[in-house]
Amino acid sequence: MSYFTIAWLDDGVVCMIDQRKLPHETIYNDYTDYREVATAIRDMVIRGAPAIGAAAGYGMALASLQSEGENVAAVRVDLATAADTLRQARPTAVNLFWAVDRMLARLDDPRLTDVAGLREAAVAEAKAIAAEDAAINRQLGQNALDLVPENATAIHHCNTGTLATVDYGTALGVIRAAHEAGKNINVLVDETRPRLQGGRLTAWELQQLGVPFKVIADGASGYYMRTQGVDFCVVGADRIAANGDTANKIGTYNLAVVAHENGVPFYVAAPTSTIDMGTSSGDGIEIEERPSTEITHAGDWQITPDGIEVGNPAFDVTPAKYVTAIITEKGVAYPPFTESLARFFV
Ligand code: MRU
Repeated sequence: MSYFTIAWLDDGVVCMIDQRKLPHETIYNDYTDYREVATAIRDMVIRGAPAIGAAAGYGMALASLQSEGENVAAVRVDLATAADTLRQARPTAVNLFWAVDRMLARLDDPRLTDVAGLREAAVAEAKAIAAEDAAINRQLGQNALDLVPENATAIHHCNTGTLATVDYGTALGVIRAAHEAGKNINVLVDETRPRLQGGRLTAWELQQLGVPFKVIADGASGYYMRTQGVDFCVVGADRIAANGDTANKIGTYNLAVVAHENGVPFYVAAPTSTIDMGTSSGDGIEIEERPSTEITHAGDWQITPDGIEVGNPAFDVTPAKYVTAIITEKGVAYPPFTESLARFFV
């Protein structure tokens, strides 16, 4: 791959590709302040649940380097402030909270008694979160191979590739693994209004991978299922409740209902860090409302009349009854999800 999503540079700098500029400009931004990392998450320089988690981990590592605390107790006070700031960046992707909590738990270790050691542990833990994500996604892709026919047409929503993770991708990783295994897979790429993660980012990634694809309007999925045949849908997740209800990019619910109506299997692919066993159902998942300009404008062009009301939920919740299976690095879970997902956490 000729690009990367996020990396830690050894001089204490976090480097991210600016996803707002893709596919036409490939620009990398450097960050040395955790507050800038929180802003980058909010403004979607970096996006996609696992990538947001990795960014939060590195944000916490930066906070440990930035702290002027003279002992570990003082640095831990600054880390708690950084954790609050990062948690407020975006509300839905649970990987953000998971990564911040994992960093705090590691840095709470009473054996870390000096500031240099604490900082070293922070950087090492953030690097581990990132490295594990890449390995997890490859495993997830392998676990899905039996679900993908030798010749298959798949519908994919949003962007779940390398750009949404540290490497390889989740739902796009399923497609990539099938392609690499020699399967003849063809992808219908939902453009994914309003921010066009499908049309801009997934198309860019699939083009470079050499996977055959066609970008379609979000509303065209039912048309393709009825007229040309679709073998399965595969999407990522921002948060999966303990009962399998899945929060993902707005429009996922519509796609799942149309898939159900047409008898098309609907797969969710996500690392187990996206499963929130503390949330019993989708009703407990906070859905982010994003700025109205994402709806009223396409770039600098205002589409709508002045002074109108806009609703812009960034995600929706697909009820578990529409999900055929949840593919993770620990295996494939089938309904009833309350039981099958719980088995991943024993
Ligand atoms: O608003 P975004 O672009 O962060 O939303 C991303 C998605 O909804 C993805 O499908 C999800 O995070 C999974 S990414 C592997």
